[in-house]
Amino acid sequence: MRIDILTLFPEMFIQTLGTSIIGRAQVGNLVEFHFWNIRDFAKDKHRVVDDTPYGGGAGMLLKPDVVVDSIEYVKRFNQGPVIYFTPQGQTFNQQQAKILSTEQELILLCGHYEGLDERVRENWVDLELSIGDYVLTGGELPAMVVIDAVVRLLPGVLGDDQSAKNDSFYDGLLEHPHYTRPANFRGLSVPDVLLSGHHEQIRRWRLKESLRRTYYRRPDLIKTRSLTDEEKLLLAEIVNECSDERG
Ligand code: ADE
Repeated sequence: MRIDILTLFPEMFIQTLGTSIIGRAQVGNLVEFHFWNIRDFAKDKHRVVDDTPYGGGAGMLLKPDVVVDSIEYVKRFNQGPVIYFTPQGQTFNQQQAKILSTEQELILLCGHYEGLDERVRENWVDLELSIGDYVLTGGELPAMVVIDAVVRLLPGVLGDDQSAKNDSFYDGLLEHPHYTRPANFRGLSVPDVLLSGHHEQIRRWRLKESLRRTYYRRPDLIKTRSLTDEEKLLLAEIVNECSDERG
């Protein structure tokens, strides 16, 4: 996958994307990043990139000519959709990450402090994404969040192919609890079934605990997901059990 990033602060990305799994994905040529400083497309000698809004009011806007020149320049190398980060966008989630991970190319446009002229949004942006209902100082952190969520889904990026499949949200449920050695940690034990070596019982326990966690923490996810017969049975058990056992 090729990802081109348009930003006023390319330096914000370098360490984050060069580290750990995403860093290794770059070294392994599974993803390549190209950074473009929007300021390099400014026309005047002071390299001004923003201007005041028509009609007055607080805040500055990125100058449309500068942003569009930068987008058009990058489109010479990257034919992917242009994604702009804004709290007004559609809320990013795992399903969106999966869809984006099937693209060969993406162009990410980050504003910082400034908003975007409406004509640019309407005519040069393909998708507006928000990473949640709060306001950040710019689109750089959202871009890094989206890159991380998307790149880890690319084939070969996670060492064990299974690990993305078990993620919370991958299957519409939260993950079941996990335990590692020692079996007794400061007097706290591990559920017996996990030590039993009985694969079918372990599978069933994990599914049930996933359902329990989702039922108590994110009931909205249960409502929107269709349950298998086995899941319906397990959920009925959970509902009948003492609510002290909530996930
Ligand atoms: N820019 C500022 N806040 C944002 C948010 N919550 N999501 C995406 N882009 C943003």
